[in-house]
Amino acid sequence: MKGTKVVFICSECEYESPKWMGKCPHCGSWNTFVEDVVEKETASSLQRRTSISMDGDNTERTFSELEIPEYIRTATGLSELDRVLGGGLVCGSVVLLSGEPGIGKSTLLLQICDTLGINKKVLYVSGEESGGQIKLRAERLKIIGKNLYILTETNIENILSKADKIKPDVIIADSVQTMYSDKIASAPGSVTQVKECAMSFIAKAKKHNISVILVGHVNKEGGIAGPKVLEHMVDAVLCFEGDRRQTYRIIRANKNRFGSTNEIGVFEMTDTGLAEVTNPSEMLLADRPVDSSGNCAVCTMEGTRPMVAEIQALVTPTVFPAPRRTSNGIDYNRTCLILAVLEKRLGLKFSSNDVYLNVIGGMQLDEPAIDLAVALAMISSITDKVIPDTLVAIGELGLSGECRGISNIEQRVKEASRLGYTEALIPYRNAEKLQLDFKIKVIPVKNVFDLLRILSSFKGKD
Ligand SMILES: Nc1ncnc2c1ncn2[C@@H]1O[C@H](COP(=O)(O)OP(=O)(O)O)[C@@H](O)[C@H]1O
Ligand SMILES: [Mg+2]
Ligand SMILES: [Zn+2]
Repeated sequence: MKGTKVVFICSECEYESPKWMGKCPHCGSWNTFVEDVVEKETASSLQRRTSISMDGDNTERTFSELEIPEYIRTATGLSELDRVLGGGLVCGSVVLLSGEPGIGKSTLLLQICDTLGINKKVLYVSGEESGGQIKLRAERLKIIGKNLYILTETNIENILSKADKIKPDVIIADSVQTMYSDKIASAPGSVTQVKECAMSFIAKAKKHNISVILVGHVNKEGGIAGPKVLEHMVDAVLCFEGDRRQTYRIIRANKNRFGSTNEIGVFEMTDTGLAEVTNPSEMLLADRPVDSSGNCAVCTMEGTRPMVAEIQALVTPTVFPAPRRTSNGIDYNRTCLILAVLEKRLGLKFSSNDVYLNVIGGMQLDEPAIDLAVALAMISSITDKVIPDTLVAIGELGLSGECRGISNIEQRVKEASRLGYTEALIPYRNAEKLQLDFKIKVIPVKNVFDLLRILSSFKGKD
C-alpha cells in the first residue's frame, strides 16, 4: 500500500525493526516480533490521532477545583472478582483481562453478565465465537441474559456505532486481538491494531462513562501482540492464571488504579462454569500425602488472605556431574540460596544430591516467609525424617542461618489453627510478641540449628 511500510514490532516492548529478529535487542525476549504495517508519518496520518481526556472533557482546571472522585462500583456477582477489582467494577473504567487461551476468560465474563444486567445494559462483543456458540455456553452456565446484547463483530468502527445505538453501561470486548480499525493498514492482532482498538474503547469509556472489559490473549509463541503493549493504557490489568490441566484458577491484579494489587481471587473450573473458592487452603491441601518425608506445610499471604500450602522436596543421590535442582512454584534462586545455607551451616551434603521442589496444587509462592518450610522439607527428605502433618512452618532465613521475623504472623497462625494444625514453627522474634489465644502450640525458631534439633525429635521413616 502506498504511504505504508512493513516493520516488525516486539510484542513485549514495542521495539521496532525493519527486519524480523529472533531475539529482541531491547528487552531480550525471544520470538516476540510480529509483522506490522505502519504508515509513514504524513500530515493526514497525524491528524487522525484522537485526543483522550480521563475527565471526559479537555478543559483546564485549577488544583482547588479538582474534586476527589467517588467511584461508582457495580458488583459482578463473583465476590472473588470484586475483591481483585477493589470492590466491584468501576463505572467508566477500562479493565484488561489477560490470560492464556482456554483458561476461562470468556466463561468468567459471560458469568458476570447476569449480575451486571440487573440494572445495567451489557454489550458483549465477540470476535471469536458465533452467537450460537455463546448461547450454548450461556445455557451451560445458566445465564438468563437480561439486558444482555451480543454482537459478533470485529470492526471497531462498527462496534462503536452499534454501541451508540444500544447505549450500554458495560462493554465486554472478547478479544481485543481479533478487532481491527479501518484506519490502520496492518492485520488484526498486530501491535498497532491492538493499540488503536484499545484506544478507541478507552476514549469511548471515558467520554460516555462506560465500563469496558478487554480480553487479551497471552501468547507464548508471540504470533500476536501480547496484552503487555496495553498495560500502560488501561486502568486495571487482571491476569487469569492457572494450570489448564488442573481445575483451579487464580485472578491477580497486576495494575489497578482503583484498588490494591495485592488481592487474588480463586476459582475452580467446573462443568457449570467457574465456582468461587472461598477457602483456598482446603483446596490446596486436598491431595497432600501423609506420613512421608520431604513434606512441610507453610502459611503464605496472598494479599490480605492467609493461605496454607504444602511444600514437597525430594532429595536423591545424583548421577550427574553437576547435581540437578528443579523448583516448581518456588523461586529457583531462593531455593539455591537456602540449599547453600543448609550445606554451609548444617553440613548437610546437598551438593552430592539432586533436589526437586514442588508446591502441591501448583501454586506459585513468592515470599521469603516460606523459607523455613522449604528448608524443613529439604532436611526432612535428606534425613528421611517425617514432619508431622499437624505442623506448619513460617519464617524467613538469612545467610547466616538465622530465622528472621515476618509480617502478618497472627493471621497466618490463626489460619493454620483454623485448619487443624496443632504446632507452628515461627521466628523467635515473632513468637515473643504473639498473643496466644488459639489452640496451637507455637515453637520459636532462632536459626537452622533449631530446625535440626526439632526435626530429630520426630520419628524416622521405617
Ligand atoms: N462443555 C464443557 N464442560 C466443561 N468445561 C468446559 C466445557 N467447554 C469448555 N469448558 C472449559 O472452559 C475452558 C474454556 O474457557 P474459555 O472461557 O473459552 O477460555 P478463554 O476464553 O480464556 O480462551 C476450557 O478449557 C474448559 O476447561
Ligand atoms: Mg475466549
Ligand atoms: Zn522487546
